[in-house]
Amino acid sequence: MKILFYDAKTYDEESFEAAKKDFKDISIDFIKPDLDPRTASLAKGYDAVCAFVSSDICADTLDVLHSKGVSLILLRCAGFNNVDLKKAKELGFGVLRVPGYSPEAVAEHAMALALACNRRLYKAYNKVRENDFSLSGLMGFNFHQKTAGIIGTGKIGAAMCRICKGFGMRVLAYDVYENPSLKDIVEYVSLDEVLANADLISLHCPLMDSTYHMVNIESIRKMKDGVILVNTSRGALVKTEDLIEGIRMHKFAGVGLDVYEEESKNVFEDRSEEILENSTTARLLSFPNVMITSHQGFFTKEALKNIADTTLQNATDFMAGKELSTLPNNVL
Ligand code: NAI
Repeated sequence: MKILFYDAKTYDEESFEAAKKDFKDISIDFIKPDLDPRTASLAKGYDAVCAFVSSDICADTLDVLHSKGVSLILLRCAGFNNVDLKKAKELGFGVLRVPGYSPEAVAEHAMALALACNRRLYKAYNKVRENDFSLSGLMGFNFHQKTAGIIGTGKIGAAMCRICKGFGMRVLAYDVYENPSLKDIVEYVSLDEVLANADLISLHCPLMDSTYHMVNIESIRKMKDGVILVNTSRGALVKTEDLIEGIRMHKFAGVGLDVYEEESKNVFEDRSEEILENSTTARLLSFPNVMITSHQGFFTKEALKNIADTTLQNATDFMAGKELSTLPNNVL
């Protein structure tokens, strides 16, 4: 199988080249452009494309890929909200992903953001480097004996629940399905109860129609004053304009975001004044209690190895001609 690997970074090439040694029937070409309607035609002559959360796998992209003979989309990520699934099904694509390659990697990053916001670590780091050893502006609060509110308790949310429990927190959770593995550490309550009682709210549900902008001005008003909000899931779970309004209302002790609505627009790669001026992300960054990281939750050695191994195993399963619906990582 010939795979065209879009948006390849050095670390992708390293982890996939290492994993490929165990998959003799697969060849991979790595290219820098990301997959979108303009770049899809580069896949002419390939059986599969390997894409990421940032790829734009809309109907137009799928039409071009289909016309070039590509039949498989290998997502090297868990989320698949960037794929037009209806169109993919219509055109007979296989769409396989890597669920749960390292839930702990993302959950640990979520807690790192929560702690960094709470204890103002970014501010402390800069102050000390500038020879300012005073503690002004650095006051936090104990997580111990406070309440964590975890929204979405799948693989990553469950790992976050365990971490919060380890900190001595009471853990409230909301999910459309309860996770039986958490029965001894979590109290399942309504979304409103999570919002009203949590000192730390962490989002771990996928982006879907039902979760789009679930954090908006109405839900923000229901939160406790001084809450810390963390989002490592998908930017559009949070309505950024409303978040900015909430920050202005002094609702939050801190906001830690690994994902943000404008991620796919590459706002910060194109640093034109106009784009930055109209950018909600740039506006968020102007607040002293907001910390943003650039979708790095997954970025650990263990996770990269799992991503490469699973993606190539997905390709091998597809090549074996098994019924798509029987493949564990099928998203259609
Ligand atoms: P998962 O599928 O194991 O869990 C998602 C959970 O959300 C499920 O328990 C599901 O029932 C729940 N859910 C669905 N609709 C809901 C709703 N309306 N309200 C509350 N809960 C709802 O997914 P996993 O592996 O835990 O990943 C969660 C998300 O994390 C992914 O969808 C992805 O967006 C994000 N992610 C972020 C990464 C990063 O690097 N920052 C890396 C990997 C995933």
